[in-house]
Amino acid sequence: MRLAAFIRANIEPISVEWERFAATLLPEEEFSSSVLRNSIAELLVEIAADMDEDQTAQEQHEKSEGHPERSTFTQGAVVLHALARVPIGLSARQFISEFRALRATVIRLWQRGPYTADSVSLQDMIRFNEAIDQVLGEGSITYTEEIDRSRELFLSILGHDLRNPLSAIIGLSELQLRGTRPERHAQFSSQILVSARRMSHLISDILELARVRLGSGITLEPAPTCLHRICKNVVEEMQAVYPARVFELHGDDGVPGAWGENRLSQVVSNLVNNAVQYGDRSSAVTTTVTSSGNGAEVAVHNEGTPIPPDMIPTLFDAFYRLDDRAGGTRSTSLGLGLYISREIVAAHRGTIEVQSTAGESTTFTVRLPNR
Ligand SMILES: Nc1ncnc2c1ncn2[C@@H]1O[C@H](COP(=O)(O)OP(=O)(O)O)[C@@H](O)[C@H]1O
Ligand SMILES: [Mg+2]
Repeated sequence: MRLAAFIRANIEPISVEWERFAATLLPEEEFSSSVLRNSIAELLVEIAADMDEDQTAQEQHEKSEGHPERSTFTQGAVVLHALARVPIGLSARQFISEFRALRATVIRLWQRGPYTADSVSLQDMIRFNEAIDQVLGEGSITYTEEIDRSRELFLSILGHDLRNPLSAIIGLSELQLRGTRPERHAQFSSQILVSARRMSHLISDILELARVRLGSGITLEPAPTCLHRICKNVVEEMQAVYPARVFELHGDDGVPGAWGENRLSQVVSNLVNNAVQYGDRSSAVTTTVTSSGNGAEVAVHNEGTPIPPDMIPTLFDAFYRLDDRAGGTRSTSLGLGLYISREIVAAHRGTIEVQSTAGESTTFTVRLPNR
């Protein structure tokens, strides 16, 4: 059997084997998405098609020098494959490793199967390696362009998000210094505080992202604490920041455990903040803390438009915002809160999930084992 035919006949086993192998190069969660698996299947089909095409000696020479006369891949699966990898934060090194894994997987399975050591097989092997080099080359270009594009977007959103609260702080401070409208100074001060807090949150999100992406991960200093107290502090703080909104705290009074207190405050604060931002303004944001067996649970609930079910799998990805789907409307938030929350919860070996339906509205639930 020729290698191209073998690839086409074995897309499923190759994908499974590749996934298993690639998972040893990368954290498992990055492979959970079916999008990534589909793009590998399509990529294999294109590689097989490329290998089937007649190739002149001239073309082969050009390909080997990295200047292919024409390319079968430019608009195809490799572009989608590369684009799908940027939002999940795959590094360039990991991106390349995936192709090494793909190459090794196909050759290994082929050798275990119908491979015979003859000149046709050798030719097939050369063609296959060239095709892999070509998709890797083209994929890398798309990947780097997309990384550049998302960096620019990131910087522009960041600039925008920092400039607005900063302008408010400057403007309101000037009014206070000039002694304008003294009867409203207390209100000015609380608006300054809201803006400063927003900037402070944004900056800690970015520092956190850098830490996760630079590989040192979320640092935890677990110490005896009480989850109820953590939630109570967050809820009181949010009430001060949004006096017009209703916040409720329910559940058990004492929920002791050994956790990273500041980190968990950050998670609860992200969730409550989202509930305020994306929930229905006229109804309460409810936080419920409970002890459960050998751990604890926090649920943050809000009424309002539910999150579409197909968006839930990617909701916790970095830079993910629902507005993205609408296209065009440029969001002014970074989409980092849930990503960082999930990282913090994972560092506690806990889980975070969301339930969102028209009847029940939206509830984010964090479950933490007691370490
Ligand atoms: N309680 C909620 N109700 C509805 N949508 C939500 C809720 N929480 C989060 N989302 C959606 O998930 C997206 C990602 O949230 P997050 O990671 O906190 O980023 P950001 O708030 O910066 O956009 C939000 O942009 C929003 O579209
Ligand atoms: Mg948020």
